[in-house]
Amino acid sequence: MKIKNICCIGAGYVGGPTMAVIAHKCPDIKVTIVDLNAQRIADWNDENTDNLPVYEPGLDEIVKSARGKNLFFSTDVEKAIDEAEMIFISVNTPTKTYGLGKGMAADLKYIELCARQIAAVAKNDKIVVEKSTLPVRTAEAIKNILDNTGNGVEFQILSNPEFLAEGTAIDDLLAPDRVLIGGDTDAKGQEAIEALVDVYANWIAKDKILTTNVWSSELSKLTANAFLAQRVSSINAMSELCEKTGADVNEVARAIGMDSRIGPKFLKSSVGFGGSCFQKDILNLVYIAKSYGLNEVADYWEQVIIMNDHQKRRFAANIVKTLYNTVSGKKIAFLGWAFKKDTNDTRESAAIYVADDLLFEQANIAVYDPKVEEQTIFRDLDYLATRTPDENRESVTVVNNPYEACKDAHAIAILTEWDEFKNYDWDKIYANMKKPAFVFDGRNVLDAEEMRSKGFVFTAIGK
Ligand code: NAD
Ligand code: UGA
Repeated sequence: MKIKNICCIGAGYVGGPTMAVIAHKCPDIKVTIVDLNAQRIADWNDENTDNLPVYEPGLDEIVKSARGKNLFFSTDVEKAIDEAEMIFISVNTPTKTYGLGKGMAADLKYIELCARQIAAVAKNDKIVVEKSTLPVRTAEAIKNILDNTGNGVEFQILSNPEFLAEGTAIDDLLAPDRVLIGGDTDAKGQEAIEALVDVYANWIAKDKILTTNVWSSELSKLTANAFLAQRVSSINAMSELCEKTGADVNEVARAIGMDSRIGPKFLKSSVGFGGSCFQKDILNLVYIAKSYGLNEVADYWEQVIIMNDHQKRRFAANIVKTLYNTVSGKKIAFLGWAFKKDTNDTRESAAIYVADDLLFEQANIAVYDPKVEEQTIFRDLDYLATRTPDENRESVTVVNNPYEACKDAHAIAILTEWDEFKNYDWDKIYANMKKPAFVFDGRNVLDAEEMRSKGFVFTAIGK
């Protein structure tokens, strides 16, 4: 079966870039991305690509190349479903905030809504592709809804998890390590798999397109994120030991990373991992393991989160301790708010939790991030509900100039590894700060010796 029309439900960080690349690479396929959020769709359609709702290096060019030709953004979900032979579900699957599994299980209400809408609209056979990250065996639930509420049309469910990382999404999509497609093992399942393989084969070598059964595919996504997050928690655990023993975590990471069995990537010690997925997906994995009575498995993975929470908390505690046990009324400059560089995404960013801890200590915080808007920063803090929105606005200011953020500050905390931080005029910053001028580098981006030679009292992670 040759696919001519694709619909993607969900125009977020995954749906937008993923489908833009498919459209860019497959000029014969019409790709329509739909979303309930009308503002988001308007932003994707904005003439000025600086206003796209997702910031990713290279994304604007890809969107420009295909938008209006074979790439469309729309709020008309039903029309797009009706027209498509293949429908990707790329909606959010956050951690449940209520009821059974609260704080752990994935909330699948948006997925179920999509399935019901597809069932209601579809008049001919469809391939439904899980792009969102889902608990293993979700395809069974989707199939059940589709088969019982649909108009008698046939549905094939594929799992095609996305492995892109934010900040490098376009490179990751253009040249992925692999593409994973899971489907039913019967003839119709294999036919559906082949249809999706053919889409990716427009730009990806066939030996990088891996096909499995649905459950392996669903579980591989959770497993990949768990392994990646575990590496960060492992090196962060060692960073605390380094600080006590005189070892340097960068040297340790380099030494172990040269062992080809360990490898050099993903060993950067930090203030803690953030992002919308690592924590959510591990909690989901823990919940699934528990639901099968596998308590040791659950406890093993939960420790990755416990370690990460500790890393964030001890960073804030160290600031307070170093500033003579009080930051009350002191100005702390935050450089960076995004959960990593080259993205405007702040979901679960370590900065949010470090700020929260320092606000409990009555600090005043001035935030500068090159890509994150003021309203996002306040939304993040208000969402915690640890203080009123007014209180947040009294203690936190957001500025669009790093020098202004650091002016008269008692300390600077680096929360994101933006490259531009390395090129600032640090002598000028030093001159305008309160003395002693403290810098807490939560990303190990600055040169400790150089900073100390300029006069800063400089603290890095794991050194
Ligand atoms: P997102 O919140 O940025 O986007 C989801 C979009 O879906 C939102 O715009 C929302 O309005 C829309 N939506 C929700 N329900 C809808 C419905 N019924 N109809 C139409 N639109 C609807 O989320 P995201 O970061 O793109 O993540 C989506 C999924 O992909 C998640 O399961 C996530 O775990 C997974 N994932 C994310 C990343 C990443 O880097 N962000 C990477 C790999 C996988
Ligand atoms: C991660 C995975 O890398 C992707 O493969 C996956 O598709 C995605 O989650 C997802 O499912 O959402 P992402 O969260 O966008 O991607 O970014 P990462 O580069 O993995 O970084 C996650 C967090 O870990 C960031 O806060 C980053 O600063 C931190 N990190 C990463 C470290 O502290 N040290 C490292 O060595 C690497």
